[in-house]
Amino acid sequence: MTSPIRRPLIAGNWKMHLTLAQSVDLAKAVCDATKDSPAEVAVCVPFTALTVVSAVVKGTHVRLGGQNLYWEPQGAFTGEVSAGQLVDAGATHVIIGHSERRRLFGDTDEAVNRKLKAALAAKLIPIVCVGETLDERQSNQTFRVLETQMAGGLKGFAPADVSSVVVAYEPVWAIGTGVTATPAQAQEAHLFLRKQAAKLYGEGFAAGLRLLYGGSVTAENVDNLMAQPDLDGALVGGASLKAPAFARIARFQVEAKA
Ligand code: 13P
Repeated sequence: MTSPIRRPLIAGNWKMHLTLAQSVDLAKAVCDATKDSPAEVAVCVPFTALTVVSAVVKGTHVRLGGQNLYWEPQGAFTGEVSAGQLVDAGATHVIIGHSERRRLFGDTDEAVNRKLKAALAAKLIPIVCVGETLDERQSNQTFRVLETQMAGGLKGFAPADVSSVVVAYEPVWAIGTGVTATPAQAQEAHLFLRKQAAKLYGEGFAAGLRLLYGGSVTAENVDNLMAQPDLDGALVGGASLKAPAFARIARFQVEAKA
């Protein structure tokens, strides 16, 4: 039930999983199994797997993403990877501000903003993650958190520069827990995010903004989630590590409408 102006995006986040050989096998299987998906399909892989997966997906419909980047173009930044290096390795997409990065590695909204600037300058499609913790939800802070993360992460651009930005709503309590937001909870948050987007960059930007849901998305629950009007795709963790499940998620529309 997604908008005709927003092409759905189903992105896998492989996180810190798989050997190179396993990555190649999974990428091949994803290419085969998602051929008939009406959605844009991407896999976001560990830095070390970018080049080998790039070789597999090259010339196919599957896009390649990184899971993070550093905002400087080059220099003495041990352990970091730049936007230009991601592009050089074959990436077209990049996840920014995932809650695991915010929680475990100290990524702030300001860091997200700088990373977003670097990604856009390199013509990467950024997937900016936002979402509240369980404590924040239970203390009615969800909207305040989403507003702060959106405003902080996306501030300071010209509207024309942010047209490729994708935002992923990933409630922290739903990530890796098997507890999925209900379709109504997800829709409520997405509608709120779209309104924030309109406040930041106008109605046109908001109407075209792709909003992904992430957090225990499975082959079983994807159809009901995607039936919501403001869900434009999914950012998939655990279920993206198995090609059949991921492919079923990527085919949500076909099977949902059948
Ligand atoms: P799960 O699908 O494993 O809950 O992970 C979601 C996620 O963090 C995607 O970025």
